[in-house]
This record gives sequence, structure tokens and C-alpha cells, in this order.
Amino acid sequence: MTIAFPIKQLNTLDSDISGQKVYSNNYNDIYFQADIGMAEKQHVFLKGNNLPKNWQQHAHFTIAETGFGTGLNFLNTFKLWHKNNNGKQHLHYISCELHPFKRQQLQQILVAFPELEEYSKELLEKYPTILTYGFHRLHFQQYNLTLTLIFADCVTAFEQLQANVDAWFLDGFGPSKNPNMWSDRLFRVIANLSHINTSLATFTVARKIRDGLSAVGFSINKAPGFGQKREMLTAQMGKDAVTKEKQPWAQTFKAKKAKTYAVIGAGIAGLSLADKLQQQGRKVVLFDRQHQPCLETSGNPQAMIMPALTLNDSPEARFYLTAFLYALRYYDKKYYHPVGVQQLAFSNKQKNWQNKLIERFDLPEQLLTKTEAGLFYPLAGWLDTQGHAQNMGQNLNYQQAEIIKIDRDKEQWHMQGLDGAIYTTDVLILANGMNAKKLLNGYDLPITPKHGQISYFQANDKHKQIGACSHIQLAEGYITPSWHGIQTLGATFDHIDEPICYGAASTEKDHWQRNTSLWNGTDYEDYFKSLSSHKARAGIRATTADHLPICGAIIKQSKFKLDYHDIHHGKHWKQYPLPQAVENLYVLTGLGSRGFTSAPLLAESLCNQILATPQVLSHELQKAINPNRFLFKELKRK
Ligand SMILES: Cc1cc2nc3c(=O)[nH]c(=O)nc-3n(C[C@H](O)[C@H](O)[C@H](O)COP(=O)(O)OP(=O)(O)OC[C@H]3O[C@@H](n4cnc5c(N)ncnc54)[C@H](O)[C@@H]3O)c2cc1C
Ligand SMILES: C[S@@+](CC[C@H](N)C(=O)[O-])C[C@H]1O[C@@H](n2cnc3c(N)ncnc32)[C@H](O)[C@@H]1O
Repeated sequence: MTIAFPIKQLNTLDSDISGQKVYSNNYNDIYFQADIGMAEKQHVFLKGNNLPKNWQQHAHFTIAETGFGTGLNFLNTFKLWHKNNNGKQHLHYISCELHPFKRQQLQQILVAFPELEEYSKELLEKYPTILTYGFHRLHFQQYNLTLTLIFADCVTAFEQLQANVDAWFLDGFGPSKNPNMWSDRLFRVIANLSHINTSLATFTVARKIRDGLSAVGFSINKAPGFGQKREMLTAQMGKDAVTKEKQPWAQTFKAKKAKTYAVIGAGIAGLSLADKLQQQGRKVVLFDRQHQPCLETSGNPQAMIMPALTLNDSPEARFYLTAFLYALRYYDKKYYHPVGVQQLAFSNKQKNWQNKLIERFDLPEQLLTKTEAGLFYPLAGWLDTQGHAQNMGQNLNYQQAEIIKIDRDKEQWHMQGLDGAIYTTDVLILANGMNAKKLLNGYDLPITPKHGQISYFQANDKHKQIGACSHIQLAEGYITPSWHGIQTLGATFDHIDEPICYGAASTEKDHWQRNTSLWNGTDYEDYFKSLSSHKARAGIRATTADHLPICGAIIKQSKFKLDYHDIHHGKHWKQYPLPQAVENLYVLTGLGSRGFTSAPLLAESLCNQILATPQVLSHELQKAINPNRFLFKELKRK
């Protein structure tokens, strides 16, 4: 099976940059016409799509572009949007790019456009440092604007996208210079992402493009071009897309008639989701049995945030890499400490593993470098969980209640609290770790509890003598650098039975001995012996067999089993019906040992599903976290 977005560096192009002249030596073409580039792009793409008029009636408007290049189209749109929206609308700009510029190159190009300075500054601040294949989402919250950059060939990029596009900017290099891009497959995927009246504009009037767009349902008009160019194309879609979903079993579901939202569980998963929904202007209540967010499993003072690479290019590795890059942009710099993680080559087996990893993947050095001690992740680090939780919590509508039962009538969900109180909501999301299983009585949710403990202690001066004490040290366990004199040592990983896993976790006496023993024979052994006291915290991880979280709608499993009972005979999956969802019920759990890395991306993805806004995850990764994947695989194997 081909992987849409493999884990490797992207190639940048050989280009000449001088003032407003940017030339690609690979394509022998200009990025835009010197001196009149901005005006030409405004004419072709903004006027050609009748903007801003066309977005005025939309609460949410989506533009998609081929070829992000220097970002000039995006910045023109950004500026126009800033001056022409009613403050309640949201613009989503999606652009694909096969050869992205590095940030320094973009900076060099964009200084030549002082009229865009405010917007270039915003873009450059958020532009990805690590250029990997796949989706990179940037939020410009105060402008009600989101940018999704998809680094890949445009066909692959758009085939992996779930979105409803309102306007297209077709802007690759010209068809004679870049014939591969302007393919029938591109036109088909453009049509699949469009709806009736979706508009499109491009600078080229080449016959192949007109015919290709007509064949997939666009009606084509020639319009006056800019400056000396006689003509350009505008087009309008005449029908709704036929195929939206790729694999019916992996369908996602938007919420219906939704005015109120309840999230049960204020760990890092629920907290992040409530934040995302609220940012989209939704009325959300966050429920937890504790008096404030992140007091149970998500309550360790320092949580490590890093990718989880594997020797093969697995969905797990791709998911956590995407999540890591998203988390770097999500967490406030006040609470995220990018001190770097040093993964020690502490045994021969580990050394071999690290050597193979470096050999197999061509990874950017901002992500990972080889050092004498092992591997070093320079941007990884740890989150001050309590600082983050308090900061987020103060803006959210919080309700302390332990929910013991959920029920739905025709209209709404009802949640019963331990004290008998009843709460109602239109949309219900279970983000309460293992306890989601308990509330979903009768639904098979394949999560397994694992008890874990960290030890923490007051650092003494000896820690400064240990060379690498400024980074997180990771071997079989991990140790964090001193913060306000405190260091964290983790973590145990043990089986725990039901039903005790449903209560708050209790600490065991052996945590110190077990967590320190992982460092026997190193400089730390003496250091730990020199400490006078230590404490412990315990939590319950909700884990899954494939190490990936569970994020999406709850479906009617018995109906699905009936519909798919013969899938193991090998009938093509296309011949099977869509699953049926339990109305307005979602789950976000199974975050395992890496919840602080994955929660922001998962929250964004679930928010996109619920609100039917452009999806932050590729189809490939959405399938990998779909709650229905376990049942589908089980029926296929039967
Ligand atoms: C020892 C240890 C060390 C770890 N270290 C790291 C690390 O360094 N980095 C990292 O990324 N991850 C780490 N993890 C994993 C991480 O803690 C989890 O992935 C993450 O906390 C899961 O978050 P969550 O929001 O899904 O669940 P939880 O944090 O468990 O949140 C669930 C919330 O639901 C509430 N709740 C439960 N039932 C109900 C109910 N019926 N009604 C109302 N409220 C309810 C609970 O009070 C809780 O606040 C560690 C885990 C352990 C155990
Ligand atoms: C003319 S430039 C785009 C200019 C850009 N829209 C702007 O406003 O600055 C064309 C871009 O398309 C990119 N490109 C070329 N072929 C591509 C493909 N098959 N898929 C994605 N991007 C491609 C090039 O790398 C280049 O950056």
C-alpha cells in the first residue's frame, strides 16, 4: 500500500530570489510577474472568484489553492479578509505545495511586499519550522482565519483532504512548464471537493485545462486577463460532488441541530476539545468529577511532549509526528518548555534501533539529530500541565459533577450526576479516559487500563554536575530537568483490573525503587541516593492495542455487524453501506502514554468532525483513529 505522506524531508527548489523577482530554475518559470505580481494575483484569483462578495453570505468559507509558493495569494486573501468580514465569519484557506520554501527564504521574498507586512509577519511567525509531508494547520485566531498547508503533490494532497471547497485558486506553474500538475486526476479530485456553485479561477486558458474542468462539471468562462495578458479563466461548478467518502466504514459524522455541547472529562483531552469548540463560538460545558481540570491522570506536573518514531513508516509514527508538530504551535510558550529530549543509546539493542532509524529516514535536523549519547529531539520538551490547565480553565464553563449515567430522548442527551442532578445537552462527548467505557454500557470500546506512577523530588546541587541535566533524559525511564527545584522521574506501567481502574488511581510504595532502578549504573544512581525525600503521583492510562487513540462518533454496532457480517469473504468494501451513528454522541479516549502530544490535534480533528469544517487530518490518519476500526478489522478477519 502506498503511503500518502511518508516520513521524510521535502526537497526545496533551486530558485533565484532578488527583490520582487522569484524564478524557479527547476521549472524555468516565474512565481509571479515582477512589480505587478500582487496586482495580477488580486485580479485573477480574488476578482476571478468574486471575492469578497462571494464570502459575505457564508458563516464559514473555504478556499483551496494549488501551489502555495511564496504565499502571495494567501497574503492578499488574508488582507482582503481582514478588512471585509463581519467578525463572526470564519475563513479557511487550504493550499498544497510540493516544494515548500524554508522560512528564511519566504522572509527574504516577502520583505519586497511592505503593503502585506502585517500579514507576512503573522505567517512567518507560524510557518512550519520542520518541513515534512502532510497536513500542517496554522491558526490565526484573532483574524478568524485558518491556514492548512498540505506539503505534497496536489493530487495526493487533495485526495487526502476532507473539505467542502467554496472557491478554487488554480495557480501552479503554467501547463506548458508543469504539465504533470494539470492532470485529469487533479480535475476529478477538485470536483469531488466542490459543491454546486463552487467558483474557480486560473490565469491559464489552455485548451487542456478548459476541457478538463468542463469534463468534471464546471462551466467555463473566459474573462479579461491582467495587464498585457488577454484572457484568464473563471468557472462555476454545476453539480454537487458525487463521491465524498472513500471507505464507508470510516465515515465521519457531523452533529445535527446542535446548540449546546457537553464534554465529560477535563483531562488534557476534554480540556483541549472544550477549548476548540469554544473557539468556534459554540456553547460548551466541561464536566469533571474533580474541582478543576487536569487533576487525575493528566495531573503530573511535567508532561513530556515528543514524536514517537518507529522503524517502519507506520500510521502510529505518522500520527504522533503530525500531533507533535501541531502541539508545538498549540501550547502557550509560557507553559511549554522546549528543552530538548536526549534519547540515550543505553543498550546495544537501543543503539542498533537508533542506527537503523537514522539510516532509514531522511529526517530534518530540527526534528532529530544523532549525538554521541544517542538521539536528540531539539524541539521536544515538557509542559507545565497545571499552569496550562489553569490558564485554559479560566475561560471555560466548568461544572464539577461525576456523571454516572447518560440517556437520550428524541431531542437531547441527559446526564445524571452522582448527586441525582440531571444535565441536558444537544451534543455529548465522552473524554473521560477509562470511564468512557463505563458510561457506554453495551458498546464495545476496546481500551485497556494501565496503571502508572511518576516520582518527583526536590533537586539538590548535585544535579548540576550531571552533564546533560538541561535536557529531558530518556532511556527505559525518563528524568526531567529541574524546574523551580523539582524534577520528575517516570514512569511505571502496570496492569490494573476493572473495576478499580474507574476510580482515581492510588500510589504504590514501590514507585521510588522502581523508577530509580531504571538508572542503575549511570551517574544518576548516586544522585538519587543523595536525595532526602520524594513523592509520587499515580494515574490510569487508557490504552489501545495499536497504540493509537480513539476519536470520533459512536456508531450503532449491532447494525454494523449485520451489514458487514460477510466482509471477510472479500467483497469490495465499496459495496457496503455507511454505518449509522448514535445521534450526536462522540468519544475521545485511548490517549495511552502520549496524551499531551496528541490531545491538541485530536481535539481539532473531533471539532472538525462535529462541525463539518475542513479536517485537520488526512483520510489516512483519520482512519487510523476512527473508533470503528477495531470492529471493522475484527469482521474482516473472521
Ligand atoms: C505515570 C504516568 C506518566 C505519564 N507521562 C506522560 C508524559 O510525560 N507525556 C504524555 O504525553 N503523557 C504522559 N502520560 C499519559 C497521559 O497522562 C495521558 O495520556 C493523558 O493524561 C490522558 O488524558 P485524558 O484527558 O484522556 O484522560 P484523564 O487525564 O484521565 O482525564 C479524564 C478526566 O475524566 C474525569 N472523569 C472520569 N470519569 C468521570 C465521570 N464519570 N464524570 C465526570 N468526570 C469524570 C477524571 O476526573 C479526569 O479528570 C503519563 C501517564 C501516566 C500514568
Ligand atoms: C507559481 S507558483 C505559486 C505561487 C503562489 N500561489 C503564490 O501566490 O505565491 C507555483 C507553485 O506550485 C508548486 N507546484 C508545482 N507543481 C506542484 C504539484 N504537482 N503539487 C503541488 N505544488 C506544485 C511549485 O513548487 C510552486 O511553488
